[in-house]
Amino acid sequence: MDKEINQNENIIETTNLSKRFGKHNELIAVDSLNLDVKNGEVFGFVGPNGAGKTTTMKMLIGLLEPTGGSGKVAGFDIVKQVIRIRETTGVLPEPAGYYDNLTARQNLRFYAKLYDIDEKTREKRIVDLLELVGLSRAIDQRIGGFSTGMRKRFGLAQALINEPGILFLDEPTSGIDPLGAQMMRDLIKKLSKENGVTVFLSSHSMAEVEEICDRIGVIARGKLLAVGTVEELRDKVREKEGVRYSLEVQDLPMQRVIEGLKGVKGMRSAESINGHISLLADMGTRIEIAVAVKRMGGAISRFEEEKMNLQRVFLRLIEAV
Ligand SMILES: Nc1ncnc2c1ncn2[C@@H]1O[C@H](COP(=O)(O)OP(=O)(O)OP(=O)(O)O)[C@@H](O)[C@H]1O
Ligand SMILES: [Mg+2]
Repeated sequence: MDKEINQNENIIETTNLSKRFGKHNELIAVDSLNLDVKNGEVFGFVGPNGAGKTTTMKMLIGLLEPTGGSGKVAGFDIVKQVIRIRETTGVLPEPAGYYDNLTARQNLRFYAKLYDIDEKTREKRIVDLLELVGLSRAIDQRIGGFSTGMRKRFGLAQALINEPGILFLDEPTSGIDPLGAQMMRDLIKKLSKENGVTVFLSSHSMAEVEEICDRIGVIARGKLLAVGTVEELRDKVREKEGVRYSLEVQDLPMQRVIEGLKGVKGMRSAESINGHISLLADMGTRIEIAVAVKRMGGAISRFEEEKMNLQRVFLRLIEAV
């Protein structure tokens, strides 16, 4: 089935969603979160330990009641219509607890029974889902003997047992080896692309969210700091920190070019590093730089932006708080 969805429809939305803990509600875990996730989107939540990712997800699936604000998932109120939300969502929690003494098949049977699925459909779905996550051979093994990666993959099968339209995946790849993590990412992409499933996931890896997410929300200390595509987040940092260029010019002494470029509007610094010119300039000054070099009578042989490493983009964004 191909995606046949209204991309502009908000399938998850929150308005000033807040959660406080503690005897006197003194600990703010989630602080007035305003969030929209579009139908069919893969949305990534990144933020340091204790940022409020799990707490947010728990509120969205009705496991925790907010202390302030409101939210809707698939049009259902996260406080008043929790049962409807359960029917339309699948959840991979972190940490996840299963019945260790039961086999993978028996565990899935248990979860399937929470939904109204007839026996024949159920038994076939169990086999299909375990095959999808690469656990066919372990179908009749007890979960207690599963490795971390196997448990995560089992968790995805469990989350899919009711054929949900929305998946909440809390750190779906943490603790898994690179091959298993790639398989998980590929599966998430496939579910989104081929089945139109909306995915809300959390992760500690910017590279991971860049690979699979349409948009990313950066959260720290309960506050949403930035939302957008990776490029939009990069731009946000660029705007503040400037852009770093590496430049090589023929026909002119390097020192003359550097002195000349210092006069360009928006130039923050210009210096010589390892035989080339390193520039730090405001965003959007690339053309002015090229024009200035030409005016001085130089010919540009190399002019590259030093792309900021994604993990640094993330660190810069969370540093602000
Ligand atoms: N049941 C609880 N009682 C008290 N405080 C809690 C409870 N659950 C979460 N917190 C606090 O709320 C804050 C947010 O925690 P949360 O688990 O949502 O963070 P997280 O972003 O998921 O972090 P991690 O990346 O480590 O999983 C933390 O300060 C945490 O200590
Ligand atoms: Mg968490």
